Amino acid sequence: MTAPADRERLDPVRLADRLTAVDPAAAADPGSIRVVRAPGRVNLIGEHTDYNDGLVLPAAIDLEVRIAYRPGEPGRVHLDSEEQVEPATIDLGAPGPATGAWTDYVAGTAIAMRAAGLAVHGFRGVLASTVPVGAGLSSSAALELAAAWALSGGAAPAADPLTLARIAQRAENEHVGVRCGLMDQFASASGRAGAAVLLDCRSLASRVVPLPDGITLVVAHTGVPRALSGSAYNERRAQCEAAVAAIARHVPAVRALRDVDEPMLARYAAELDPVVVRRARHVVSENARVLAAEAALAAGDLSLVGRLFAASHASLRDDYEVSCPELDLLVSIAAGTPGVHAARMTGAGFGGCIVALADPAAVPRLTAAIEGEYAARSGRTPRVWAVRAVDGAGIAA
Ligand code: GLA
Repeated sequence: MTAPADRERLDPVRLADRLTAVDPAAAADPGSIRVVRAPGRVNLIGEHTDYNDGLVLPAAIDLEVRIAYRPGEPGRVHLDSEEQVEPATIDLGAPGPATGAWTDYVAGTAIAMRAAGLAVHGFRGVLASTVPVGAGLSSSAALELAAAWALSGGAAPAADPLTLARIAQRAENEHVGVRCGLMDQFASASGRAGAAVLLDCRSLASRVVPLPDGITLVVAHTGVPRALSGSAYNERRAQCEAAVAAIARHVPAVRALRDVDEPMLARYAAELDPVVVRRARHVVSENARVLAAEAALAAGDLSLVGRLFAASHASLRDDYEVSCPELDLLVSIAAGTPGVHAARMTGAGFGGCIVALADPAAVPRLTAAIEGEYAARSGRTPRVWAVRAVDGAGIAA
């Protein structure tokens, strides 16, 4: 059976029909069926800054996870996925340890919700997703947020989106065992239609940053899965912590790289491993670029946004060393396409996606360049999406 096209796949009516086909109780009481959604995300700028108490600027996008469900399944979750062979069956009384399956994200969310004092309800559901797995578009955060809504029973969760994002992050950190920052879960929970959202990962204050009118957000996948990314990610985190520990010996007020600026880093650079200096230089300069990009987007200065994206990419490639030849090639082809204003790698790196801002008329040209030139020169099979920035998780209309 061929998979339905993306939009059709997310259709709430189709999903509710899928549920009634497998669940006699839902078929007998179709009025009880709910459909919730949670988006993936693309980060515009502010990469590898979230776990340094820094600034990020992600947008939630219309690649989504949706769950049609019937609340009231006593004490357990039974969730079929159109993308996964094995259903998720979770005994909410004893969810058990992580097993490496997709179920972990759902079970971890239930455990973290309970730990935060939220009621957790069983359900019978069917899930569909258009967020590609392993592409760096936060399919796991989307799954966690969709699960949090479904686990809340028939009503909205008794927690605001930021709190829900922190619960989902905790599920990922403590149950799944991935040391991610807050950005992905925040974007999926708190995204805004037509906008990116700037999050200060220390104060947790956020600001909506509207995207310029008449600009299309393009996401393109290198076709390179993110191998080795977990260990390299943790190594980068440790290098950032090493820089903080060394600088804090001189300046005790420094608690994270967020507290360091370029002159301070230069002052103590001689005492640090040169690799650690480059890692810290990326984070310090990237935080400044987030604020500059916010201002440039507000002013509609797309040429400045383009220079900031280029500087961010170069810093991730040369100082943070999380790019790869395919990401570099894809960014250079995108940035060189007429009508494309800005392009950079996005997400953790080591494969995954780039993000670009383009004139709508340039999108077919960009797509052709990626599917033609990029595919031929890299030997990879890329994917391109023109995406819309959407609201964070909630009820699917
Ligand atoms: C992954 C993590 C995020 C963030 C990015 C890099 O997506 O889950 O928390 O650290 O990498 O910016």
